[in-house]
Amino acid sequence: MSDAIQVPKAELHCHIEGAAPPTLVARLADKHGMDVSSVLDGNGKYVWSDFTTFLKAYDVASAVFKTPADYALLSETYFRMLAAEGAIYGEIFISPDHAQAAGLSYASYVEGLAAGIERAKTDTAIEGRMIAIGVRHFGSASVERVVKEVIGNPHPLVTGFGLAGDERSGHPANFSKAFRMAADAGLGTTAHAGEFGGPDSIVAALEFLRVKRLGHGVRAIEDKDLVKRLVDEEIVLEVCPGSNTALGVYTHLRFHPVNMLRNEGVKITLNSDDPPFFGTTLGKEYASVAETFGWSFDDQMDVTRTAIEAAFCDDATRTRLL
Ligand code: ADE
Ligand code: ZN
Repeated sequence: MSDAIQVPKAELHCHIEGAAPPTLVARLADKHGMDVSSVLDGNGKYVWSDFTTFLKAYDVASAVFKTPADYALLSETYFRMLAAEGAIYGEIFISPDHAQAAGLSYASYVEGLAAGIERAKTDTAIEGRMIAIGVRHFGSASVERVVKEVIGNPHPLVTGFGLAGDERSGHPANFSKAFRMAADAGLGTTAHAGEFGGPDSIVAALEFLRVKRLGHGVRAIEDKDLVKRLVDEEIVLEVCPGSNTALGVYTHLRFHPVNMLRNEGVKITLNSDDPPFFGTTLGKEYASVAETFGWSFDDQMDVTRTAIEAAFCDDATRTRLL
């Protein structure tokens, strides 16, 4: 699976707290006198067994990031890793709720993350942007609080707003006000749907949240009319095959619908979601999908181009990257 020339890559879907290397989490837990043994095993691997325990482990690991410097180190580490795999662009989901739980204001959280993104860019030229997410299972009041923080504290690298968390909790209608506020403020919008929920969940996200990008969206494959709608409306899917197989949405990559969706004409991007939790990286996602489905270098370049075209960045940056 080694490439003589690395495919230039771009990522639209990675949760920054979910990208924390276990070694960094252990180091910061030490520094802050915290115990993370419930979520890190003796081999430095995250411990979880299903989506619910994954979300719990994610919350515990996130809690070790307590200062802007901690977050700067996290984003710098992640963007350097991404650049080393050939990525030219990355968007990270940031979770103001997790920062608040760790005792950090929204502004300090964003400042820290932005400093790390800028440091990585200085050495590697990788471009980074942030998408602030509300957590669906925390409820609509919490999601609206996040969008108000984003709008009230504008930052040039925070260019999007999204919805993550447990798709099985809360109807998208509960979040339509937050998404309208985000869109009115000029933020790009995306929502997790069609990961654990089926086609109805995707249709509801499209109807009530008016998004042009979907986190996952892969279960659209279960409804032919919905696949046609995604093609007609040029909806971009942030596909995370490694995450879906790790969390048991599909039992093996060869049963994953990414190739079928692409063949139907759906706009596909490849992403790592929460890489160390799922034993993946962006480079591994490109390589494993290419190997499993026989995608050429040019096929992979198409994926990168789709991501840049759908990126929540300014047009000058987009033109430079394309
Ligand atoms: N938060 C972090 N990872 C997630 C995922 N895969 N789905 C929903 N919310 C998440
Ligand atoms: Zn996700």
